[in-house]
Amino acid sequence: MRVARTVAEVRAAVAEARARGATIGFVPTMGYFHEGHLSLMRQSVAENGFTVVSLYVNPLQFAPTEDLAQYPRDFERDRRLAAEAGVDVLFAPDDAEMYPDGPQAQRTVVSVRGLNAVLCGRSRPTHFDGVTTVVTKLFHIVAPDRAYFGQKDYQQALIIRRMVRDLNFPVEIRVAPIVREPDGLAMSSRNAYLTPEQRAAAPVLHRALSEAAARIRAGERDAGRVRAFLRETISAAPHARLDYAEVVDPDTLEDVDTIQGPVLLAVAAYFGRARLIDNMLVSP
Ligand code: PAJ
Repeated sequence: MRVARTVAEVRAAVAEARARGATIGFVPTMGYFHEGHLSLMRQSVAENGFTVVSLYVNPLQFAPTEDLAQYPRDFERDRRLAAEAGVDVLFAPDDAEMYPDGPQAQRTVVSVRGLNAVLCGRSRPTHFDGVTTVVTKLFHIVAPDRAYFGQKDYQQALIIRRMVRDLNFPVEIRVAPIVREPDGLAMSSRNAYLTPEQRAAAPVLHRALSEAAARIRAGERDAGRVRAFLRETISAAPHARLDYAEVVDPDTLEDVDTIQGPVLLAVAAYFGRARLIDNMLVSP
């Protein structure tokens, strides 16, 4: 596996692979790899002749009050895990390579209106524009045939799909299932922030989602009651501070009143300084 630090190096490696007829798979990440990241890399390696993974903690998607400076990093471990997963190029640029004049001097921003303002967009109003802008840059740098995202960040994947459709990006978006710890907690780089007590409480997110899903499958049709159940269950857990718990249309992310078709259950809560998210798609 090669480590590329510059746009020019990645472009050269991709051009070489394409010249031999390989399809290009791409997995954008912010590093501190866990099984969620690795499952995306393995899928890309299985489906493409050449796989590029980017490792870049994108300042544009963090608000000034957020955890950019503390975001966990371990480059040597990430390099080893990506190589073991069969990745061909690990693209790990620095800020000067991605934003030569600084992230705040970036004048061109890609914004997927509406979808960026609900759920996580309510408490993180600038977050998704930061994501869509950096993913646009990365797509233009790597020029992949397929790009891989996790359902863990359902709203992010939906927004990227919409961006690709609206702006005619020549890339196929693949979304892979959420990888969980044995007790149900969705894997996340931010789980590293949890104290043992917070870690013990955090599986309430998945438990609440699973129980809400069971109620819907058993005939519950009142989304308001499901929302209330999610909110009460998460709020009652020790160390948890609820951000949101919603029942929404999986395509538009708009609130649902009566559950008639598939719905997305989406939750976010703080456990200490860690803001954790989780979700579940449910069909009645
Ligand atoms: P990051 O949080 O590092 O996640 C990289 C990819 O891994 C995302 O597509 C995310 O959905 C996926 N992922 C994370 N946890 C997962 C889990 N438990 N199961 C399955 N997939 C999981 O998401 C980002 O980085 C950034 O916003 C990025 C797209 C790289 C833009 O900066």
